[in-house]
Amino acid sequence: MLNAVSRTVQIFGLTAARQSRCIASLASLPETYQMLYKTCRDFAEAELKPNAAKFDRQHLYPGDAIKKMGELGLMAIAVPDDLGGTGLDYLAYSIALEEISRGCASAGVIMSVNNSLYLGPLLKWGSKKQKEDFVTPFCTGDPIGCFALSEPGNGSDAGAASTTAKDGGDKWILNGTKCWITNGYESKAAIVFATTDKSLKHKGISAFVLPKPIKGLELGKKEDKLGIRGSSTCSLIFEDCEIPKDNILGEPGFGFKVAMMTLDAGRIGIASQALGIAQASLDVAIEYASKRIAFGKPITKLQAIQNKLADMATQLESARLLTWRAAWLKDNNKPYTKEAAMAKLAASEAATFLSHQCIQILGGMGYVSDMPAERHYRDARITEIYEGTSEIQRLVIAGQLIKEYGL
Ligand code: CAA
Repeated sequence: MLNAVSRTVQIFGLTAARQSRCIASLASLPETYQMLYKTCRDFAEAELKPNAAKFDRQHLYPGDAIKKMGELGLMAIAVPDDLGGTGLDYLAYSIALEEISRGCASAGVIMSVNNSLYLGPLLKWGSKKQKEDFVTPFCTGDPIGCFALSEPGNGSDAGAASTTAKDGGDKWILNGTKCWITNGYESKAAIVFATTDKSLKHKGISAFVLPKPIKGLELGKKEDKLGIRGSSTCSLIFEDCEIPKDNILGEPGFGFKVAMMTLDAGRIGIASQALGIAQASLDVAIEYASKRIAFGKPITKLQAIQNKLADMATQLESARLLTWRAAWLKDNNKPYTKEAAMAKLAASEAATFLSHQCIQILGGMGYVSDMPAERHYRDARITEIYEGTSEIQRLVIAGQLIKEYGL
């Protein structure tokens, strides 16, 4: 027998809900972007949305879906085709990542880390050999890569890295612990930041690339998280881990800049993931409100609900335009540090706001796991934390503003 909640879900037909929205601003973009959007949307509807609750509840890595995303070219969107990638730009990446995240935010972050944080720096600073070994095989969705910057004692203060890389002649010897590593469990390679000279502070940090598993590297426990539970997060613990000398990425001492520039691009990715969560929240809210009758009419006719929907749509669209602008600047080789931080700040706060309002519109139905609203609310929370908290984004924006004013 159906309980009251599942009966309500059935009456509103929300388990098999068909989305009929379209991104208004997309219509003005060239056909390639529209086709990519449609491909990702169809894939997300068919493969991700129906399974996202299961991935979440069972903490299940969506391996098959990620492989299919690899086949669609989504795991290496901005990698040139001669290296095995799709050869598109960051605007395409943003549009694709939003749609994937609308279906499943866990698949979204797995895609984001592989594209921006892992492949991004290898493309920019990797040697020919590093690209052969660590880029081309990682364009397929299996294997995937990860990015290890944060440490137990320094997340926001990335320049205070205490993991060390000792010069051992023909090798580097790594010691220390990296934490909060997305894709930490499944990844088969990692970009790792370590200091070769602590007295030089951020100027002593270098970036390295290494295969996983490798002797001297242990994985910490899989974190039990509030949201994005289909993606793994764990620590990487290095104890006399030896890697070849030429596994350094870029020049020695240049690692902090590698991290900062990589995060500029990564923030466009997380902004896009947040847009997907926000859009999914709006979809659920509108669909539910159009069917829910109160005071003798669908609640979409009530001004209190209309005000909420209007604020939700406005925040979402503004954040989307900021994100596309940051992507466009990157694609056109213009500075975009400030704009990427603005995009991440606005989109992550929009995801928090929209998922909160979505629950408010659904009332009790928003609070139970039979509906996706509570998952969107939990998934949204991390977007204000990883790849730089909202506080760090404000710091970056203010820093750039002060520079622009020549002060
Ligand atoms: N591009 C290029 N260079 C940059 C830069 C950028 N965006 N930002 C800073 N730099 C350079 C500066 O020009 C400066 O260069 P010089 O030494 O030549 O003068 C140098 O880096 C130091 O800059 P700051 O003095 O501004 O550095 P800071 O120590 O004050 O820190 C910060 C700046 C913005 C707070 C930085 O530490 C930061 O971004 N922190 C947040 C880190 C973060 O996002 N962590 C997330 C980790 S990844 C993750 O979330 C896990 C996951 O798997 C998803």
